[in-house]
Order: sequence, then structure tokens, then C-alpha cells
Amino acid sequence: MKKKITIAIDGFSSSGKSTMAKKLAKTIGYAYIDTGAMYRAVTLYCLNNGLINGDIVDVAELECRLADIRITFGVNAATGASETYLNGENVEREIREMRVSGKVSIVAAIPAVRHALVAQQQRMGSEKGIVMDGRDIGTVVFPDAEMKIYVDASAETRAQRRFDELRSKGNTDVTYEDVLRNVQERDYIDQTRAESPLRKADDAIVLDNSTMTIAEQDAWLLDVYNRIVNK
Ligand code: DC
Repeated sequence: MKKKITIAIDGFSSSGKSTMAKKLAKTIGYAYIDTGAMYRAVTLYCLNNGLINGDIVDVAELECRLADIRITFGVNAATGASETYLNGENVEREIREMRVSGKVSIVAAIPAVRHALVAQQQRMGSEKGIVMDGRDIGTVVFPDAEMKIYVDASAETRAQRRFDELRSKGNTDVTYEDVLRNVQERDYIDQTRAESPLRKADDAIVLDNSTMTIAEQDAWLLDVYNRIVNK
């Protein structure tokens, strides 16, 4: 029986980290947690409850309501994929829409939101045997994780991937330029916010997957994992 470890995968939006994190978790039999989905679910809650006006969030009201926002994950029996639930309702599709992507960095910069979600993420990973992806997993959520990966790729590569994904899901009212602008804006906010900005942990291994196929990056990640657990 191999030792169970904690695997933290951080990086920019649409860097392909979720795809590789999910695949690795499935291959090695670990739980997978998409922490971006949790920030997206809180953002959806804010949008649905009138807590966002333009780029201004009613932080005082949101703080009062944080205890009432319950985010859970469930497995879709048909696809085997993990899906996000907000107060019992499946919101997996809605949280990926542009109206949520356009506001999520603002909500994710609010300290009270981060404290609540980080505490929940630490509880979810307390038994190890978990692959968690996000922005601050290796730096804040699990600074002692045995395996830390920092995924990098150009903004244009990432925008193209996200655009292709939206198109494949039937979303035709968005242009590549819209997606690139959103990716660049989010990069900027995620890297410059005061509260746990996106940055590489000192002991993270960097993966630039700009020119890698999905199969190549999966093989690379599995190799890193095997080297760490067999050490
Ligand atoms: O990975 P994603 O694009 O679904 O993430 C959505 C947003 O949530 C992104 O703008 C940054 C934020 N986020 C964060 O601040 N911390 C995390 N651990 C995960 C995501």
C-alpha cells in the first residue's frame, strides 16, 4: 500500500490544471476538489441574491450570509464527473458561465470568503489522499503538501482552450477576444490581490504546458507522483 499524500496543483485560470488534476485523481484513486468551483459558487450566490452591483459586492451582507452558503460536491452517476452543488442545487453548468467568470475574481479577493473556503478545504483534505487545484493550495491551504505543482501557460493559449471549451458546450455568443480579456483581467486580479495572491510556492515544481498535449501532461504528472511516493 503506497503512502497517502496531499497533492496541490496551482496555476492561472484555464491553464489545464483541472483536467490534469481530475485525471491524476482518477488514476491513483484519490478524491479531487476543484476549489475554483467553490469561489464560483459563492459568486453565483451573490449574483442570484443581489449582492453584486457592477463591480461592488455588499461585503457586510455577504459576511452575514456566509454561514448559509453550503457548497458540496457530488458525482454525476452518468459521467462519473464531480459536480458542484450550492445549497443542494446542482450549479455545475451555471458556475462556468461568463457572468460568473466576470465577477469571480472580485468575490475571491474578499478576505472573509477566503477564510471560510480555506477552512472548508482544509477539512476536506485532512485525511490526505486528495488532489486539490486552485491558486493558493500549495501556499496557504496545504503549505505542507508532499507534492506541489505550479502550472503555467501563455494567456493566449489559455484563452483559446477556454474559448474552445465554451464553444463545445454550445455557447456561441462569446468571442475569443472576450475570453482573452477575461483571462487577462483575472490573471491581474488573482496575482495582485492583497489576500493570498496567486504565486508559486518555493517548493513547487513548475509545468509549462503551452506546447504539451493532454496525454503528455498526464504522463508527466503521474511520473512526478510516482517519484514522490516511491522515494
Ligand atoms: O480555476 P477557476 O478559473 O475556476 O477559478 C475561478 C476564480 O476563483 C479565479 O478567478 C481565481 C479564484 N480562485 C482563488 O482565488 N483561489 C482558489 N484556490 C481557486 C480559485
